Amino acid sequence: MAEGKIIDGKAFAAGLRERIGRETARLKAEHDVIPGLAVVLVGENPASQVYVRNKARQTAEAGMRSFEHKLPPETGQDELLALVEKLNNDPAVNGILVQLPLPDQISEQAVIDAIDPDKDVDGFHILNVGRLSTGGTGASAPLVPCTPLGCMMMLKDRLGSLSGLNAVVIGRSNIVGKPMAQLLIKESCTVTVAHSRTRDLPAVARGADILVAAVGRPGMIKADWIKPGATVIDVGINRVPVEDGGESGKTRIVGDVDTQAAMAVAGAITPVPGGVGPMTIACLLANTLTAACRQEGIEPPAL
Ligand code: GUN
Repeated sequence: MAEGKIIDGKAFAAGLRERIGRETARLKAEHDVIPGLAVVLVGENPASQVYVRNKARQTAEAGMRSFEHKLPPETGQDELLALVEKLNNDPAVNGILVQLPLPDQISEQAVIDAIDPDKDVDGFHILNVGRLSTGGTGASAPLVPCTPLGCMMMLKDRLGSLSGLNAVVIGRSNIVGKPMAQLLIKESCTVTVAHSRTRDLPAVARGADILVAAVGRPGMIKADWIKPGATVIDVGINRVPVEDGGESGKTRIVGDVDTQAAMAVAGAITPVPGGVGPMTIACLLANTLTAACRQEGIEPPAL
């Protein structure tokens, strides 16, 4: 029954993208609205280049407009802020994503602050962070960061109600750990946010019915950290050398969880690759569709 333990993020993301594609076509047919996503890349970070390419392709495949802006590594902050302002004022652009990390001469916070919160499909602007923490709904509903949103969709799909469950989030980043904790609180979990300074982390993790690992350390979470039957969400994307003595120079992607060993204990687990990763871009498309609907005064579809 090991197969049944795997939460197939790749298949889930494909299904979500199909629903988004259908709703995008309906939006065009019924309201003559085509959602547009602008992605801004500064510099030549190879991982960022891959992400941005994938985002552009999947945006177009969903029937949305994709606007790509590639700026040289020496771009100044004022120049980037001027582009953000232009995109804020462009009615064809419903969502804006500035790929992080940014080069050192640019303040990430200054750029995030400059994005129109209604177009902030990353959910990083303080207005969206605040709305998430205060539980805003309707016109005050936040745009939710894509990775935790994807984790939440898979958790609810697998478990149904999360009410009363103990959730432990390992990692306290603004992109994953903190928003993940807020989403779990909203679902009436009892939430612990653990991190590198947490005392006896394995014991804390063992209390979790839901364990979310977002630390960026390959295979850190061992089988004996996991409560039998727990649902484990592995957000880690770590590139490590393949085990051939380093001869080939080849690398592979592994998560924060020792997946093979964890499978024997966990009730369900997301693999790496093929778990959380594919959901993130699908959720970016979901946020773009949601943002476009709100900007046009249309009720966003349930996805
Ligand atoms: N870099 C890595 N992940 C992300 C993300 O979710 N959004 C942005 N803007 N940059 C990233």
